[in-house]
Amino acid sequence: MIPDSFKRDLLNRVDIVDIIQRHLTLKKAGANYSACCPFHTEKSPSFTVSPTKQFYHCFGCGAHGDAIGFLMEYSGLGYIEAIKELAAGAGMTMPEFEPRFGKKKEETGPDLYDLMQRATQYYREQLKATPQAIEYLKRRGLSGQIAAHFGIGYAPDGWQNLQAVFPDYSDKSLKEAGLVIENDAGKRYDRFRDRIMFPIINQRGFVVGFGGRVIGAGEPKYLNSPETPLFEKGRELYGLPQARQSIRDAGRVLVVEGYMDVVALAQHGVGYAVATLGTATTPVHVQKLLRQADEIVFSFDGDAAGRKAAWHALEVSLPATLDQKTIRFLFLPEGDDPDSYVRSKGKEAFEELAGRAEPLSAYLLGQLRARVDTNTAEGRSRLVHEAKPLLKSVAAPGLQLQLLKQVADISGMTQQEVERLCELRRSTPAPGGWQRPAPPKIARAAVKSFELSLLKCVLIKPALAGELSSEIIRGESIEVNALLALGDYVRANPEVSSEVMLIDHFRGSPYEMLLRQVRSELISLALSPEDAEGEFRDALPRLERQRIHEQLNELQRKNKAGALSAADIELMNALTKRLATLDQRPGANRPVV
Ligand code: UTP
Ligand code: MN
Repeated sequence: MIPDSFKRDLLNRVDIVDIIQRHLTLKKAGANYSACCPFHTEKSPSFTVSPTKQFYHCFGCGAHGDAIGFLMEYSGLGYIEAIKELAAGAGMTMPEFEPRFGKKKEETGPDLYDLMQRATQYYREQLKATPQAIEYLKRRGLSGQIAAHFGIGYAPDGWQNLQAVFPDYSDKSLKEAGLVIENDAGKRYDRFRDRIMFPIINQRGFVVGFGGRVIGAGEPKYLNSPETPLFEKGRELYGLPQARQSIRDAGRVLVVEGYMDVVALAQHGVGYAVATLGTATTPVHVQKLLRQADEIVFSFDGDAAGRKAAWHALEVSLPATLDQKTIRFLFLPEGDDPDSYVRSKGKEAFEELAGRAEPLSAYLLGQLRARVDTNTAEGRSRLVHEAKPLLKSVAAPGLQLQLLKQVADISGMTQQEVERLCELRRSTPAPGGWQRPAPPKIARAAVKSFELSLLKCVLIKPALAGELSSEIIRGESIEVNALLALGDYVRANPEVSSEVMLIDHFRGSPYEMLLRQVRSELISLALSPEDAEGEFRDALPRLERQRIHEQLNELQRKNKAGALSAADIELMNALTKRLATLDQRPGANRPVV
């Protein structure tokens, strides 16, 4: 857990204008600064940064927060990660910082990031000194400039080359970083030998892993870093930091399968591509990408493996859908991948093809139709049956309704009939006792991510939910309502101690899919109950302050309209008092808004 005093010092030390300016061009507008909002699409700037209050606020979409919140939303960092990044920039050392997998700083020896950086440097130097490696990259159509842009290097042949960079070759952190392998006899050797090296860089700009390709033939074709304290495949995307600007410019991110696809596309002027790292698309990937762009285009090879991967990407995308964002699927002609396609046909042909990528809805319905015979009653019923889990997991209310209507159309049923069969009605409480109806889901990813992290904490440590009430947390989203429903349940059943019990209880409720989704993300997160409690306690006062400010704003509006009742005035006083109490607590730096 991060001590309040540290956060206070940190937020006092950094300037939010400075932080945001690194990512956006801000214009001075009176006492404030303004820009076009990075969190929604707009033509005239309604995004405002206040240097005196040290917060940002968008009058268009309502996004708001402090420097920590901005980094979380803009760069897709977690709460702790965002603080870490701010601290690093301000030259402050994190107190009792515990990296994932719960190792204490002093036990890890040399900084793993530092090791990775030095290895990257070494591989790059080796590339310059190895003509056959340069030759290989040239043959694949890459310029020196693009190779440098991606930090591409070369790991020479030989067993212990890294000894030249790390004289203490036996240091355990080399193994921990995945740079060396130890055999059963305790003998160490370099993991990457005679391979072209692609550094994998995280959103903070640090090298966290490598992909190494053989030159010519050999197995495996690509060797990747193992999962390490720095590197989790399911969270990282190759090429994301390099692509960020192009993604913003294009308003689109293209997700491809391979390292070479990303690099070759960039070589041909398509800079907005990223790759999953030889793993299936995860919910974390989708959420990260939706924060960066209004449109995701998933590209897959036109073979059976590509189609299977595409369907998986569709399934993990549904719970992350937002009505203002588009997800599409691109299938390349059989035998081509983005690298070969762009190389033989050029940028324009590739972008033309990408422009015709199938929208998620069309892909989903096309696949459902292909599975059944819609000429028979059985086939049409089966189509509805198969559509049910998919429709249920669609988070975007508009999209869900559109899909529902089309499923009804195809199946020859009415919308109400399909709705009932698929158990989609959210407004009536489900049987089984959760009192709170789930209202329409809201679309703002910004709010969602905060509440999603609370949900994660609660699943790890259910007792925490007991502290949540509508006093502190408010909103229309399914996440908020899930949190409140969990709170009610845990208060009434204090013996509930595991996520399994929670998920079990809410089976068949409107929150089931959401809870399952959140749980699936926990698998790759490795948060301990103590970490979860820390995150949770850090978040509570922020939430309450935010909620009080919302209420006060509302009252002020009423006041301006001359419609303030005696009860309103009483409420206003109580809220102001509460705010003062909260602000006096250590760590109560600045209100969120
Ligand atoms: P592909 O086999 O499609 O290779 O793997 P590619 O990207 O077209 O590579 P080139 O063009 O021959 O150089 C796609 C991705 O799957 C992962 C890598 O991330 C690769 O970029 N992969 C593939 C591995 O991790 N290991 C392998 O042995 C092969
Ligand atoms: Mn290829």
